[in-house]
Amino acid sequence: MIKVLFVCLGNICRSPMAQAIFEHQINGTHLTNHFEVFSAGTTDYHIGAPPDPRTLSTLKSHGILFEHQAHQVNYSDINNYNYLIAMDHQNFVHLQNMKPISAMLMKMRYFDPVDKNSDVPDPYFGQNDGFETVYRILNRSIEGLILKLKEKHLS
Ligand code: 4NP
Repeated sequence: MIKVLFVCLGNICRSPMAQAIFEHQINGTHLTNHFEVFSAGTTDYHIGAPPDPRTLSTLKSHGILFEHQAHQVNYSDINNYNYLIAMDHQNFVHLQNMKPISAMLMKMRYFDPVDKNSDVPDPYFGQNDGFETVYRILNRSIEGLILKLKEKHLS
């Protein structure tokens, strides 16, 4: 089983959206047997809370229903997952400071075919269209991530 953890700050906007999109993209394929995905936040701000309503409505507008309760990343996660995928540089540094031993730590947009060197922007304090922007970035980045994981582990 290849275990992937998406990580952002609050685990109510970007990383749950990434988890939902990843699950949606592999849903109905043989890949579901090979991957386990989850998401977490670096902070305790929203532990136990559902995703932001704007996350859920954006996903729903793309035909994706999703449920999640916010979880704060901990040391057992750091050692349990094979891939830690940070949404932005701050999340990346946070995970780096937790000193993962065997997990691969990467930023989400490393897999973005359009722009590999940017962060997934935090939509929390912005307008609604920020969530659609994040959806588009994540959708294409996760396509790229799944291709790489298939190449590496399943070819
Ligand atoms: P996320 O967005 O990290 O994508 O879940 C945020 C959610 C909450 C806060 C900041 C960003 N906050 O400051 O509460």
